[in-house]
Amino acid sequence: MAPVDPVDHAAAVDRSPPARFRWRRKIPLTPKHRVHGHARTTVRLVGLAVPLLLAGCAPQSVTEQGAAIGRLYNLFLAVAAVVWVTVTGVMVWSLVRYRRKDGDDRLPKQIHGNKYWEFTWTLIPLVIIAGLIVATVRTQSTVLQQQPDPDLTVEVTGFQWSWRFAYPESGAEVVGSSRRPPELVVPANRTVHVRLASADVIHNFYIPRTLFKRYAIPGTTNEFDLTFTEPGRYDGNCAQFCGFGHPDMVFTLRVVTAEEFAGWVTAARVRSTAERAGTTGG
Ligand code: CUA
Repeated sequence: MAPVDPVDHAAAVDRSPPARFRWRRKIPLTPKHRVHGHARTTVRLVGLAVPLLLAGCAPQSVTEQGAAIGRLYNLFLAVAAVVWVTVTGVMVWSLVRYRRKDGDDRLPKQIHGNKYWEFTWTLIPLVIIAGLIVATVRTQSTVLQQQPDPDLTVEVTGFQWSWRFAYPESGAEVVGSSRRPPELVVPANRTVHVRLASADVIHNFYIPRTLFKRYAIPGTTNEFDLTFTEPGRYDGNCAQFCGFGHPDMVFTLRVVTAEEFAGWVTAARVRSTAERAGTTGG
């Protein structure tokens, strides 16, 4: 065993920073590098935020009820944006503010387990979520509110694999088939009461531009009102896989003026009556 020289031993004492900081030594950070790093981070954050914001934009609703849902979507988007900006801002600020400075190897003050902060950042999300729940329940009651005397009732029945739209007040009826998707015609700015049912399995009545969908369940009638504000043609479809013909369960919604509707429903009634007579007679 070689004798240890006390002088050499003292010289060998490691004066470099603790192991967990040592890796940073490999990349000397100059001010120029830092600026580039920040610019890159900003570009990345913007690149992330823009698609997220666009993805959050709901299509404009074409019903009064859907407008309430659209406002709720936007509220959620705004709250999420504020949360995102705050969290990201605090994160970036603390990264910059507490980054290691040259010659400083001490950790910043650690606040893990601080009762005040733990309480605060538990309370804030609770308050936000409670607010969103209240807004959601209020929107839901607006959307599901039914007029005591609607202008028009439409019985919508889903079946494998199409839809039947019946107008009990006039006797008009439109029945689609897999090959011939039906058209649902309703007047604009009138309360349309929908009675939704299924003839066989569970279907789902969905017109994307209403921002609303509802199950058609065998043995149950789901009722709701839709008040279309914009005349036009809109796509509708079944939104629940219901068998091989599910993709054929598309339909068109045509919103017309009240006068056009009166003309259409009269013609449709005559046609339906003739078809029914043809079916029973033949
Ligand atoms: Cu009916 Cu899918």
